[in-house]
Amino acid sequence: MKFSLVALAATLLHDTVHAQYATAAMMRFQCSQLSIERLDPLVNPGMLPSTHMHQIVGGNSFNATMTPGEYDPAAKSTCTTCSFSEDFSNYWTANLYFRAKNGSYKRVPQMVNLGLKGQGGITVYYIPPYDGRTKVTAFKPGFRMLVGDAALRQNRGMQKQICHRCEHNIEQTPFGGAPCTGDDTVTFPNKMCPGGIRTTITFPTCWDGKNVDSPDHKSHVAYPSTGTFESTGPCPASHPVRLPQLMYEVMWDTRQFNDKNIWPDKGQPLVYSMGDGTGYGQHGDYLFGWKGDALQRALDARCSGDRCSQLKTQTPEQALACFKKQTVKEETEGWVSELPGGMQVTYA
Ligand SMILES: *[C@@H]1O[C@H](CO)[C@@H](O)[C@H](O)[C@H]1NC(C)=O
Ligand SMILES: *[C@@H]1O[C@H](CO)[C@@H](O)[C@H](O)[C@H]1NC(C)=O
Repeated sequence: MKFSLVALAATLLHDTVHAQYATAAMMRFQCSQLSIERLDPLVNPGMLPSTHMHQIVGGNSFNATMTPGEYDPAAKSTCTTCSFSEDFSNYWTANLYFRAKNGSYKRVPQMVNLGLKGQGGITVYYIPPYDGRTKVTAFKPGFRMLVGDAALRQNRGMQKQICHRCEHNIEQTPFGGAPCTGDDTVTFPNKMCPGGIRTTITFPTCWDGKNVDSPDHKSHVAYPSTGTFESTGPCPASHPVRLPQLMYEVMWDTRQFNDKNIWPDKGQPLVYSMGDGTGYGQHGDYLFGWKGDALQRALDARCSGDRCSQLKTQTPEQALACFKKQTVKEETEGWVSELPGGMQVTYA
């Protein structure tokens, strides 16, 4: 399948809501699976295993403890699963499970986004403002943040940056339209999705300029005070430093489960690994680990897609040769009788 920016521009020009996508320079690249395991150096540092299962991509120095200022992923990693080979950051989210009519669970695999190559994992975006001029400041060493709330099970107006899209066709257009537009839902789609499900997770873009972390891993960053990041809406005075827009796209390949024989008679069968039966609890974790000033150079050069004159790249094969063994050995494949860690499914 050939990824054509011309076709992309043509398709997206029809998207009146976010027509600017068509001309925007944005880094968009594949980070294949590094490991699937119960580790969370951000929310459960040092905990072996952490409460719930995650899928992790990026540098292979991912570990239970990654203390800011002490632990430099770019120095500790020997490889990364991302196509930009100087990106040793870690990106992770919850895993998705399917609960069959008989009560057994199976992990829903991820698929690679249109136009990219690799295996599973996450599509990562770093997006500069659409005006093509406004400067953004790359994340600093030790920086990390969390978006979303794993404990959320109902609409509290907090989750508007995280959406699910039911794909009607596997041959979706790149991006498939701007995040959280169209029929996107904060909750899981309530029907079978022939082309799988896309989750978008969009991080805050304003930083306090001082702290690389905060106790809740959120308060050192903020969304623009008015308007949107894309329209260069201003940052609040408390968080004046403008960051690139970090976004994850996770493409869940639900196709093997689209079978009336295993689909429950009532309700929808998807659950996130923390026992979330609603979708509200989806969350994304980021731990910066680019080498030196590589990310700043790429942002200043307005690099686009997964090629950049400022950055070294590696082949999908090289990226796939990078992996990390589970620290705590645990089954992640096949039908299981309960979620890893015995997480109970809740709906409210
Ligand atoms: C990861 O943590 C373990 C202890 O849990 C430690 O033995 C190991 O050296 C750490 N790995 C790196 C790359 O620091
Ligand atoms: C539940 O259903 C799945 C899908 O048909 C099947 O593979 C699995 O073995 C079943 N589990 C049990 C405990 O019967």
